[in-house]
Amino acid sequence: MTVQMITDSQQKPKIAREILEALPDWFGVAESREKYILESGNQPFFAAEQNGSPAGFLCLKETGNSTVELAVMGVKKEYHRMGIGKALFQAARKYAEKAGYLFMQVKTVQMGRYEDYDRTNRFYLSLGFRQFEVIPTLWDEDNPCQIYVLSLAGASVQDLIMNRRSYRGKYKPDKVPREDLRAILEAGLAAPSGCNKQTTSLIAVDNEELLSKLKAAIDPPVAETAPAMICVLTKRIVAYRDRCFATQDYAAAIENMLLAITALGYRSCWYEGHITDADRIGDRLAKILGVPDEYELVCILPVGIAETAPGSPKKLPFEERAWFNGFRNADD
Ligand SMILES: Cc1cc2nc3c(=O)[nH]c(=O)nc-3n(C[C@H](O)[C@H](O)[C@H](O)COP(=O)(O)O)c2cc1C
Repeated sequence: MTVQMITDSQQKPKIAREILEALPDWFGVAESREKYILESGNQPFFAAEQNGSPAGFLCLKETGNSTVELAVMGVKKEYHRMGIGKALFQAARKYAEKAGYLFMQVKTVQMGRYEDYDRTNRFYLSLGFRQFEVIPTLWDEDNPCQIYVLSLAGASVQDLIMNRRSYRGKYKPDKVPREDLRAILEAGLAAPSGCNKQTTSLIAVDNEELLSKLKAAIDPPVAETAPAMICVLTKRIVAYRDRCFATQDYAAAIENMLLAITALGYRSCWYEGHITDADRIGDRLAKILGVPDEYELVCILPVGIAETAPGSPKKLPFEERAWFNGFRNADD
């Protein structure tokens, strides 16, 4: 599959027509479909090609000097759930960021009305869009308009850290695309390690059969509905004199991955206690994955789109755990 920006204004409406006419469930109203096709000729236009023919497209539309709208997007049904929509979005996002836009908005029918549109809502949420406003009568009463918004400046690191939470609820069945899993693994591998010994290794599991085997070995069960799981392996390597920093190394890798997971719109939980206690669940998982004896499987991180909001555990007040210029100092 390839995604490219199309600049030929004759070619754009042709592709738009081919895709939109193949999607009557979303673009069945001829009048608005023709409007999308006509307008596409003058808009930033991204097309995905699969086996030499158009599989999907996406158009952007400027709505203000800092804002751009994901005006229309369609992927042929036979190509759904293959990461094409996401690839189109990523290309469009890159373009919009480069062009200096700060926010992207997108409109769809509010969640809870139609299954097809619910999937569209979940897709936008998985891309990082957030609910902005519902306008009940913009289209008509049966189709309340949900506006989503996304900051193109990206969430600040501080926002991301504060938004991470341990999630132990159910996950949606949506698969986690390989490129996201890879980005999460890369975040883990980018963590610091004592004397750069890089004692942490990682295995992402997205194969359904293998996932079922792993889940069956976790008793009592956790992460039963997760569509992917990252297993964290550690190897004891002496770093400096007799010091081994393997524990610190994998903790840093795990936190990096939890932040990357959060940034990509997924949820997770650091399951370590559960799999390294007397039951030695980690050892069973390692065996299933063919991990050599010199590594220990110390943690699993489920990855997926959360069905519900995570809990928010009480944290001690700042003043009880952090101070300036001395232990429990009143210096402010
Ligand atoms: C070393 C370590 C081991 C953990 N093991 C488990 C575990 O086995 N099961 C679990 O549900 N949560 C586990 N957690 C998650 C903690 O319970 C969680 O971080 C804590 O309750 C604070 O919640 P928060 O992550 O939402 O801030 C672990 C966290 C750490 C750092």
